[in-house]
Amino acid sequence: MPHTAVRDRRAALEWGAYALAGSMLSTTGHAQTIPAPHTLNNPGTVMQASDRLPLGSSDITVSPLGVGCMGMSEFYGPTDAAEVQRTLDAALERGVNFFDTADMYGRGANEELLAPLLTGRRDRIVLASKFGIVRDANGVHFDNRPDYVKRACEASLRRLKTDYIDVFYAHRIDRKHPVEDMVGTMADLVREGKVRAIGLSEAAPATIRQAHRIHPLAAVQTEYSLFSRGPESEILPTCRALGIAFVPYAPLCRGLLSSQARDATHLGPGDFRQALPRFQPTNFVHNQALVERLAEYGQRQGCSSAQIALAWLRAKGNDIVPIPGMRSVRHLDENLGALSMALSGDDVAAIEALLPIQAVAGERYSDAELMTVGL
Ligand SMILES: NC(=O)c1ccc[n+]([C@@H]2O[C@H](COP(=O)([O-])OP(=O)(O)OC[C@H]3O[C@@H](n4cnc5c(N)ncnc54)[C@H](OP(=O)(O)O)[C@@H]3O)[C@@H](O)[C@H]2O)c1
Repeated sequence: MPHTAVRDRRAALEWGAYALAGSMLSTTGHAQTIPAPHTLNNPGTVMQASDRLPLGSSDITVSPLGVGCMGMSEFYGPTDAAEVQRTLDAALERGVNFFDTADMYGRGANEELLAPLLTGRRDRIVLASKFGIVRDANGVHFDNRPDYVKRACEASLRRLKTDYIDVFYAHRIDRKHPVEDMVGTMADLVREGKVRAIGLSEAAPATIRQAHRIHPLAAVQTEYSLFSRGPESEILPTCRALGIAFVPYAPLCRGLLSSQARDATHLGPGDFRQALPRFQPTNFVHNQALVERLAEYGQRQGCSSAQIALAWLRAKGNDIVPIPGMRSVRHLDENLGALSMALSGDDVAAIEALLPIQAVAGERYSDAELMTVGL
């Protein structure tokens, strides 16, 4: 039985119904309305300090679910600032201590948004940020050179109004410059007390091993979800062999695994999913039919497809800490409810039978962006 984050409750899931759910897949080729569950499992779940998980071999422990903050500033269309604040405060109240940002989200605005959260309660929060994706007058490029790493760290600290970052990730690997120099500089930041632990994002297994030899990595962050199973072949086993925590980003496939997804033509201005292959109309219809399987299945258990998607990730191991993005207390509570669902091996197999690897239509990024990941 996998770790149950909230020990006193176990959702009464009857996963045996999955075979029936499989027959629910739309064969019409038209987008279906995904049913919402009538009631959700344990919305408002509160986590305890004893539920925390170690982040690799570092001395950092985190809640079994973090909050991805990117969408609070950019990429997913207009944001309700007051509701975002309520969501951040509610997350802390409910025992979430792991918050994920990056210097490039909102061009620094996302880190500034999190500064008030840290004030007066810095020791209650594990703040992860990232450097290396530079947006300037020349467009978007990567920079992992030592001098840049140091400057990026100082700038993040200023914006966050704090004197240390808990987990400092290289957001992308810049192959133009030696990885050793970048990691060596990150290690210097640890020695200087500006960073507690380091990590890589979207790195290849060889890069992970190379970096880990120079300084222990606490975490590796890569896209991983029921729709993005790539890390299972090499990245996850590499992390496990080295004792590095794995942080799945976009665990809901940018919302596609939830009941609220819309196709590219219905997304608002500034929503970067308009450019993602999986949200293009034809792919979207196919993908939504897959999610419909999950939703029908979940509906019988009183849980949403998003909750199943998160519970599935959690069931993969205590070294896996998903960071779903959310901008409302409603989504926060729904997602935390997933922590009460202790899936068995049979449950996991059933869910994977509903959404087989490779069933999703469309790559997770555009061709140009795919060139920049897994380096
Ligand atoms: N390392 C990297 O390169 C990288 C890349 C991308 C993201 N990230 C990190 O990973 C985090 C998560 O990824 P993501 O935000 O891109 O994708 P995600 O977590 O897969 O999905 C976020 C989307 O799902 C929606 N959502 C969340 N909970 C929901 C629920 N219970 N029901 C229905 N919809 C729900 C959100 O809506 P609302 O916003 O309206 O609540 C948002 O549209 C980011 O915030 C960021 O910190 C890292």
